[in-house]
Amino acid sequence: MDINLLQASNTPVPRDLPLDLPLPEWLLVTLLVLSFLLHIIFVKLMVGGSILTLFAEIKGLRNNDYDVFAYEIAKTVTVNKSMAVVLGVAPLLSINTLYTVYFYSANALTGLAWFMIIPLVTIAFLLTYLHKYTWKAMVNYKCLHISIIALAVFIFLIVPTIFLTNVNLMLFPERWAYIKGFMSALILPNVLPRYMEFLGACLTVTGIFIVWYNGRKSYPVGRLYQTFNRNTLKRMGYYVTTFGLGLQIIFGIVVMISLPAKGINFEVLELMVFGGIMLFVALWFSWKALSADSEQKRDNQFWKVMTSILFFILVYGGSRQLYREQALHKHRDLIAAKTEAFERLSKAAREHQVDDGTNVEVDPALGDLAQGTALFKQNCASCHKEKQRLVGPPVQEMAKIYYGNEEGLKNWIKVPGKKRADFPQMPGFPQLSDEELTEITKYVLSVK
Ligand code: HEC
Repeated sequence: MDINLLQASNTPVPRDLPLDLPLPEWLLVTLLVLSFLLHIIFVKLMVGGSILTLFAEIKGLRNNDYDVFAYEIAKTVTVNKSMAVVLGVAPLLSINTLYTVYFYSANALTGLAWFMIIPLVTIAFLLTYLHKYTWKAMVNYKCLHISIIALAVFIFLIVPTIFLTNVNLMLFPERWAYIKGFMSALILPNVLPRYMEFLGACLTVTGIFIVWYNGRKSYPVGRLYQTFNRNTLKRMGYYVTTFGLGLQIIFGIVVMISLPAKGINFEVLELMVFGGIMLFVALWFSWKALSADSEQKRDNQFWKVMTSILFFILVYGGSRQLYREQALHKHRDLIAAKTEAFERLSKAAREHQVDDGTNVEVDPALGDLAQGTALFKQNCASCHKEKQRLVGPPVQEMAKIYYGNEEGLKNWIKVPGKKRADFPQMPGFPQLSDEELTEITKYVLSVK
């Protein structure tokens, strides 16, 4: 969007906090990108793992090996969940530090939903523990047991929509004025395709995790399963990954098409295309692994699938960050200008405060009132005009009120009260000396 358009529309341009970053910006950005990627991998294992648990436990009603499989995955979900939460702190803190105004505004606009994350996630976490620890105790109440994880999955599917909505909304300050709560932010173009791509990624990552986790040499497949062997489990993992990659590709394309153009530049496009290619490469290897006719051939694909997925994840993290920078840079310029103007003003105000009046520009032609007029100009004129209301009432009005009451006027200036309902509070001037106050009062009371 053009910078003038940004200014002309009712885009809010808040002032930034005039505080230094705690770390160099590049370091914070690197931390944000890397810690976010680590966090989101575990989130995907948690969401994908619980979906698969649900799915496998239902299949387990017919075939007990699926029930065993479901239990094995359920045990990893709670661990991955803890990792996801702990690793989520770093990106949350760094995005708050780097994009304070944006992140805050998006969160404030969808406040209720944002807060709901805490009870929702708490409930979902407790449900996953309940589900895991009651596996044996509830063998005779399978349907009830399955509904516990079904509810957890349901919540796990809702929570990412809140996060996605907010990190999407923070990119579009020009929409903030029109947002009325969470739902109106959720339907911004791009949120749902991103969500679907995320679900695909949950399956991709969980699938490859299963290939590794259930395929480890030390993993007691023979003891756990009656009919499944290591190869069956790996094949299941590749099945899930292939399916997930397919979803990612389809919805990745929708994301690219629906992505508002303001954040796209050549580098972003380049990275996205490269990421897309990586997904296709991963899909190709994953498909080869899935359709391999021997365990050896299947195993040969593992590192290829793994590497292409890791590459994709890195590229994805980079392109997200670049898109964000590109989408926000014009608005950030506006904020920077506003912040700078504010800092200039407040600096001037600070300097005037300690001013002892020696560098006041005095016009000697005013004779007796010269000093007072100059002091008034310096300290009061930004809010008071002679005949008209500005921030405060006109000087004429003051003169009328304090006619013959020089002391009263001086007291007001030092410690002003709160008088007029439709005016803000006037700041006090305890730093002015008694002589200065006398001069100012002389001037004020001279106005007819
Ligand atoms: C930041 C803005 C601001 C500055 C600077 C400022 N004023 Fe005021 N002034 C106000 C406002 C606002 C009011 C009205 C407050 C109210 O009625 O509650 C006010 C009210 C007054 C009144 C009316 C008091 C009354 O009893 O009704 C006087 C007199 C006055 N200011 C004098 C001064 C003088 C002299 C200075 C400089 C030393 C000064 N002001 C600087 C904002 C300002």
